Parts: sequence; structure tokens; C-alpha cells
Amino acid sequence: MLALARLALGQDHSYTQGDIEVGGQTYRMNCVGCHGGDGASVSGIDLGRGKFKIAQTDEDLIRIIINGVPGTAMPATPIAPVRAKMIVAYLRTMHDTKSRRSIAAEKGDAGRGRVLFEKQGGCSGCHRIQGAGGRSGPDLSDVGHLLRAIEIETAILEADAAYPMGTRPVRVIRKSGAALSGLLLNQDMYSLQLVDQEGALRSIDRSEVKEEGPARSWMPSYQGRFSAQELADLIAYLAKQKGAQ
Ligand code: HEC
Ligand code: HEC
Repeated sequence: MLALARLALGQDHSYTQGDIEVGGQTYRMNCVGCHGGDGASVSGIDLGRGKFKIAQTDEDLIRIIINGVPGTAMPATPIAPVRAKMIVAYLRTMHDTKSRRSIAAEKGDAGRGRVLFEKQGGCSGCHRIQGAGGRSGPDLSDVGHLLRAIEIETAILEADAAYPMGTRPVRVIRKSGAALSGLLLNQDMYSLQLVDQEGALRSIDRSEVKEEGPARSWMPSYQGRFSAQELADLIAYLAKQKGAQ
């Protein structure tokens, strides 16, 4: 059964690069929180390698994405079938990027990674580790627990890909026209609490909000900025950050 499913996935090439890209964005917005950047976070399922419990064909996958799996934690995602198909296109290519896999797997030097993080890389301008560093990005003291190496890599190379739950960058436009971006900390019926780019807590009355939506990540993309070895060093350093010892 598994082999058949993989065969079916491999044979259909009727999708475009654009489909894959939109599919990847849709995946990151709706699925990454549970299935992870590498698609293997739910036990027994490996989305990028065609390892499923029930799905066999693309049609099965599309149906499962839209309807969820009743009786399990797999939720329904109310999107159009074309969108769901783009996610399937993305899932097929998830593990094609061989160079990327090898970077996360490559042996990095955590000591050199630390220097990159604090100096040339400029990461600590935004991120704190063990109390030192900036506040406009998430605290990375425990990132080695929270993310796998491949997810850390994705976070560095595709800034929009992986943001922790509860620190979603949002953009709010006030009725006065003024715009404000920040990481969404909390919200209720009456107000929204954001941490703005300077690290200040801002509370906004819902009655003042005209529009609210996702903002692009503030984290610059580092695609092409580092050599493979430098990336491996950074990932090795971050993978070691496992909170208070
Ligand atoms: C709230 C967590 C959660 C979210 C969000 C989520 N999933 Fe799942 N998904 C699961 C769990 C848990 C299972 C395993 C269900 C089971 O036990 O069969 C699963 C199963 C699956 C399966 C395998 C079905 C099979 O045949 O075994 C696919 C494919 C899948 N998810 C794709 C997606 C996609 C694509 C998205 C985003 C649109 C998504 N999931 C969002 C938790 C989630
Ligand atoms: C301008 C500020 C800024 C800089 C510089 C920056 N980041 Fe980020 N980073 C963020 C923000 C904000 C997030 C939260 C998610 C998002 O907005 O994409 C983030 C998310 C992350 C995450 C994911 C954390 C998680 O829990 O999901 C990692 C890992 C990370 N950054 C590593 C780095 C590394 C390594 C560097 C240096 C090469 C770096 N960042 C430079 C702002 C920054």
C-alpha cells in the first residue's frame, strides 16, 4: 500500500513551480505547527516521504486536508480544493531539496556558530540566549528543544516559514489610518496585545481597529548569506540551546 502511494505521488508531474510555492506557504500557515517543517512531527506520518496511515492517492490527500480525519487531532482546513492540491504538490517536493537536507545533517561547530550568531550574523540583535541579546525576535534559549535541526534551518533560510505559535507577526491598521506591526501576544474580545519591533508592549482597543492581518516576518531571510559550513555551525549552536541546564 505504501509503495503504491509513493508511486502515485511520484508519477504525476502536472503541477507548476508556482503551485509548489503557494502550496508551501499554505502548508506553513496551516500545517507546520503540528506536522513540523520536515513533515515528520506527527508520529507514524511522514508527509514528505509518502508515509500515511490511510491516504493513498492525491485525491485522498486533498479530501483529508479539507475534511480532516474525524476522531483524531487532524483538523479540517476549510480551503478550496485547488489550494489543497497545491499543498499536495508541495508535499511531493518536500524532500527533493537534497542540499538543504545535507546542511542540517552536516557536522557544524557550535563554537564558531556562536561567534556567527553574536557577531557577523547579527542574530543576537534580535534574539536572546540565556539573558543576552535583543527582544524583537523570540528568545532562543530553548530552541534546541522546540525545533529540529531542519526546522532551525528553515527558520533561518525562509524567515516566513516558521514562527512559534503565539508569536505570529501581525499588522493592524487603526481607524485613524496608522499602521502598527508586532508579534501577537494575546487577544480577547476587547483588545489586542502586541510586542512592537522595539520590544515595547502595545495594547490596542478593538474599537480602534480598522483592519488586521498577518504581517511579513521581520526576520531577514538569510538565503545565500552564509556558506553551507557557516549554516551548519549556526544550526549546531542553536540545536544545543536547551534551556536552563
Ligand atoms: C492540530 C494539529 C494538526 C494540524 C494543524 C494538521 N494536522 Fe494533519 N494530522 C494531524 C494528526 C494528529 C494526524 C494523524 C491522524 C491519525 O491518527 O490518523 C494527521 C494526519 C495527517 C495526514 C495523514 C492522513 C493519513 O492517511 O494517515 C495528512 C496527509 C495530513 N495530516 C496533512 C495535513 C496538512 C496538509 C495540514 C495543513 C493543511 C495538516 N495536516 C494540519 C495533526 C494535524
Ligand atoms: C531583525 C530581527 C531579527 C534578526 C536580525 C534575526 N532574527 Fe530570527 N527571528 C526574528 C523574529 C521576529 C522571529 C519570529 C518569527 C518571524 O517573525 O519570522 C525569528 C525567528 C527565528 C527562529 C525561529 C524561532 C522559533 O521558535 O520558531 C530562529 C531559529 C531564528 N529566528 C534564528 C535566527 C538566526 C540564526 C539569526 C541570524 C543569522 C536571526 N534569527 C536573525 C527576528 C530576527
